[in-house]
Amino acid sequence: MATAPELLAPEVVIRPMRVADVVDVVAIERSSYQFPWSEGIFRDCLRVGYVCRVMTVSRQLAAYGVMSLGAGEAHILNLCVAEVHRCHGMGRRMLESLIERAAAAGMGDAYLEVRPSNTTAIRLYLALGFEQVGVRRGYYQAASGREDAAVLKRVLRGCEIPST
Ligand SMILES: CC(C)(COP(=O)(O)OP(=O)(O)OC[C@H]1O[C@@H](n2cnc3c(N)ncnc32)[C@H](O)[C@@H]1OP(=O)(O)O)[C@@H](O)C(=O)NCCC(=O)NCCS
Repeated sequence: MATAPELLAPEVVIRPMRVADVVDVVAIERSSYQFPWSEGIFRDCLRVGYVCRVMTVSRQLAAYGVMSLGAGEAHILNLCVAEVHRCHGMGRRMLESLIERAAAAGMGDAYLEVRPSNTTAIRLYLALGFEQVGVRRGYYQAASGREDAAVLKRVLRGCEIPST
């Protein structure tokens, strides 16, 4: 009798971003944002030593995150999951990974900016313990001029990730 085919779970890995990843990162970036970062911005982030991570699924690039660390603060500058991989917990895992890295580096707080219209991302950030601490007026480019940014903060001291 033939045995049932073995179901193999796809291999999910988070690792540092490399220059060779930038082409794939930019393809996801362009399909995800109306005003995407350029290839040069990602290269600069790598060059200046920002924390740049990618998540791969079966070696295919599926998500990435970029964060700066300094003066006791982490700034999460980009977090993005390829559309086909969304709603499977990857954004959460990448954000948790960045928070853990920032806490391990001794940062006291993590900050990020988000468009108030981006309710999907805001739900993720609130679920992981961020709270709104301010607004930056006209921070983002928008189709009809400028859009404000909500500034969110999460305290990292005694960093525990809320469980789902
Ligand atoms: C925001 C983003 C990173 C979320 O990534 P994701 O992998 O789809 O999110 P996850 O599956 O990890 O979901 C985590 C939480 O986010 C929220 N969320 C995710 N998708 C959502 C949706 N379609 N609607 C509402 N909330 C959603 C939920 O709170 C979810 O938690 P839950 O599953 O326990 O309800 C992803 O949508 C994305 O890359 N968007 C485009 C780029 C972007 O806007 N980045 C943020 C810039 S500030």
